[in-house]
Amino acid sequence: MKVKLSASVICADLADLASQIKELEEAGVDMLHFDVMDGHFVPNLGLGPVVIEWVRKVTSLSFEAHLMIANPGKYIERFVAAGSQIVALHIETVDDFRRATGRLQMLGASPAVAINPQTPVDRIEPLLEVVSQVLVMTVQPGFAGQPLIRETLAKIGRVRDAIEKRRLNVDVAADGNVSFQNAPAMVSAGANLLVCGTSSIFSPGLTTSEGVRQLRAALARPPSSL
Ligand code: DX5
Ligand code: ZN
Repeated sequence: MKVKLSASVICADLADLASQIKELEEAGVDMLHFDVMDGHFVPNLGLGPVVIEWVRKVTSLSFEAHLMIANPGKYIERFVAAGSQIVALHIETVDDFRRATGRLQMLGASPAVAINPQTPVDRIEPLLEVVSQVLVMTVQPGFAGQPLIRETLAKIGRVRDAIEKRRLNVDVAADGNVSFQNAPAMVSAGANLLVCGTSSIFSPGLTTSEGVRQLRAALARPPSSL
């Protein structure tokens, strides 16, 4: 299975975003990931629909909006209108998740379900039929630059098993500390989509194209034991 790479825009050089995106496109990145934060669901602030709208003008890559916000249902339309093809909502923030996925589909977007490190996999299992992706947080949501929470590797495996058991075609994404070292272990656990931030593509001291190249090379090697 080909592993898809999603570049985390919040980790890019935002003063030079258009040229960074061009470099990412040329390096073969599959999509762009926008971390949206509200200072309530997570103790940090992030990107919003205005940024997505501007970036939409300079690329045709797929966009996913990762809504780390309270009451995300209120903003679904805004994020789709701004140009997001995928909208990830946290299971911890939505009461009627099926209704939210129905709304996203009506708007022409793909729903994804995001899950925090402490939330058990059985919370999202009933939703596997109605989402295109499960976004497994491998760090606490909110900040780049955190260490991997190792227990989340087994969780990626549980999510993948639950999908296989139902013979569904759902992406399993890992978000947080997708480093050159951790990425192969995440993939062998069952992830086929990696959200790449400061730990790989936007590693300080590397160009983004070198970051993508090193990550692809790491994925071609067998995983080291963590
Ligand atoms: C957490 C963020 C981070 C970030 C990725 O809310 O989503 O996962 O974008 O960056 P690193 O690689 O620093 O974890
Ligand atoms: Zn994210």
